[in-house]
Amino acid sequence: MAEKNIPPEVVSRVAELREQLNYHNYRYYVLDDPMISDAEFDRRMAELTRLEEAYDLARPDSPTQRVGAQPLDKFETVLHRQPMLSLENAFSEAEVFAFDERLKRFLKTTDAFDYVLEPKMDGCAVELVYENGRLTTGSTRGDGFRGENVTQNLKTIHTIPLGLLTAGEPAPELLEVRGEVYMDLPEFKQYNAERLARGEPAFANPRNAAAGSLRQLDPKITAARPLKIYCYGVGEVRGRNFDTHWEVLQTLKQWGLRVNPLIERGRGVEAAIAYHQKLEHKRHDQHHGLPYEIDGMVIKVDPLALQERLGAKSRSPRWALAYKFAATQATTRILAIEVNVGRTGAVTPMAVMEPVEVGGVTVSRATLHNEDEVAKKDVRVGDTVLVQRAGDVIPEVVKVIVEERPPEAQPFQMPGNCPVCDTRLVRPIGEKVTRCPNPDCVASLTRGIQHFAGKSAMDIDGLGEKIVQQLVEVGLVKDVGDLYHLTEGDLIPLERFAAKSARNIVSAIEASREVPLWRLINALGIRYVGEATAQLLARHFPSLEQLMAADQEALLHVEGVGEQVEYSIREFFDNERNQALIKRLQDLGVRGLPPKPQAASSLGGKTFVFTGGLANISRDEAKAMVAARGGKVTSSVSAKTDYVVAGADPGSKLAKAEALGVEIMDEAKFRELLEGKT
Ligand code: IVH
Repeated sequence: MAEKNIPPEVVSRVAELREQLNYHNYRYYVLDDPMISDAEFDRRMAELTRLEEAYDLARPDSPTQRVGAQPLDKFETVLHRQPMLSLENAFSEAEVFAFDERLKRFLKTTDAFDYVLEPKMDGCAVELVYENGRLTTGSTRGDGFRGENVTQNLKTIHTIPLGLLTAGEPAPELLEVRGEVYMDLPEFKQYNAERLARGEPAFANPRNAAAGSLRQLDPKITAARPLKIYCYGVGEVRGRNFDTHWEVLQTLKQWGLRVNPLIERGRGVEAAIAYHQKLEHKRHDQHHGLPYEIDGMVIKVDPLALQERLGAKSRSPRWALAYKFAATQATTRILAIEVNVGRTGAVTPMAVMEPVEVGGVTVSRATLHNEDEVAKKDVRVGDTVLVQRAGDVIPEVVKVIVEERPPEAQPFQMPGNCPVCDTRLVRPIGEKVTRCPNPDCVASLTRGIQHFAGKSAMDIDGLGEKIVQQLVEVGLVKDVGDLYHLTEGDLIPLERFAAKSARNIVSAIEASREVPLWRLINALGIRYVGEATAQLLARHFPSLEQLMAADQEALLHVEGVGEQVEYSIREFFDNERNQALIKRLQDLGVRGLPPKPQAASSLGGKTFVFTGGLANISRDEAKAMVAARGGKVTSSVSAKTDYVVAGADPGSKLAKAEALGVEIMDEAKFRELLEGKT
């Protein structure tokens, strides 16, 4: 049916629905802030589909057409109007300074530049062409001059608008947007797991997964892949002028395109270096890290007039630089697989490797976690392996490069006996962890004593690993009780000891005879009872005797104590050795002081909100500490919030707290508040 025969109310309703659906798609996928329910969205989509079918009005840029195009035989080639250049790389501060100097020399200026600082997404570069606000073509970067026409695949990505949201203002005649299509890490992992379950090979990394997904001839396959986009620039633009790159990005964002919220504008090369550090920190943050992979940052001269003057070399613009992170993965060879014995007797296999640089540090050991993990990855001595490091955590073996395995390499076998005390190892059915059951094992004893002396236990200064090891090895300390018998005279003959340090340690041990009860409970090293649980218990049972006498019901009564913890506590106190040790400690004058009376509900009724990363405790632990004092933790700031605890890189909650006049404190202040009243 020709459009002119269609009732005008249908034409206008179709236009209205398309506009609404594009807008609500944007609210949902780009802003992550939907305004209407999914059901309502579906209802309007169904109405539009019905009208388009009835009046033959479907057009490729209609929201009904995101998925549904027919599979292609091959991709057409698209010529980029302006080449999609690549970036020059830098790996050190010195190279970044050199870049900045070069620009100054080129432009004959000594003024600091304004730079736009962006994360460098590790995905697949694409170009989106909008003509009069409508998405007409989408392509891969290809060789920079010509790419593949993957329009129908790109349209399946919900964070790509089919029409620009220029809100009344006319859309530019032509807008070429450049961005990176990527996959978030959790989705990537899930997707790989599904592939493996179907017997398909896993993708090596999210970048390959994104690139592979975009190059599917059948858009239905692409549609099922969890792809997203961040836009970082423009190619040719007609019908709109910009002065700065920052303005370009802000405008793209306004028009409904997704721009990375971490972009910043800063003055001078120092700002760029600081941003790099911040980003690297963020990337490695275990709790608030980025959900996607980045391989560095991009530094771009902000004023477009300067970009123009600087121009480009053959493959990369002079006005931009990629400042990369040191690789966090590397390959090396396994020299040996050792097993370590921990405080609880847990036996952990460790790979000893040829030293290799990973993420800026040299590593020679990586954890293999447990027996099953070694078996699953089939790591063998002699294997070439991929290792990775994330932040400050112990490096781990990602996988074996099986093709490079020497023919004589033998599968790993967990030793039958403890490598330290030769006791037969045990692995209870259903548990992953193998243990040395010998309570006198030097290895577990050493770690147990270190734990006992630790900061959040008895807090005995100066008892580091080497010293404890020595004390255990020479037989001066056979359990933690022996610590309280040590004299200066015992210590001075040992290696590493001067009279002064011996005196300091003895008086630190002396001072630890009286500690808050929770520290003593934590120091005992009961499995599953850490600092936070110890605090909960100390609030409930004002003496160690009362805790020891508590039955199952009484323990389960403590909020935050579940069956596993309850069982482990009773098992610990039922053990005769432990009973004897506690008796001995008590005879030696070791006491756990009950919390001061007001402590029970020192934070009674107070509401806390956490934002940003805490340096010394986990978010979960901090929450437990608040709960232990009768306080409450909520996730969003309101007028009812009493305190906001702000860690590193706090989010918008901080601004909100400031606006509402809520008391804000840092981690140290928070600890004071807790400690002061315990
Ligand atoms: S700007 C002319 N910005 O890095 C400037 N590129 O090595 C060209 N990339 O092909 C690119 N994040 O795929 C730019 N914020 C960002 C980026 C970024 C990732 C990729 C892009 C490009 C490659 C160049």
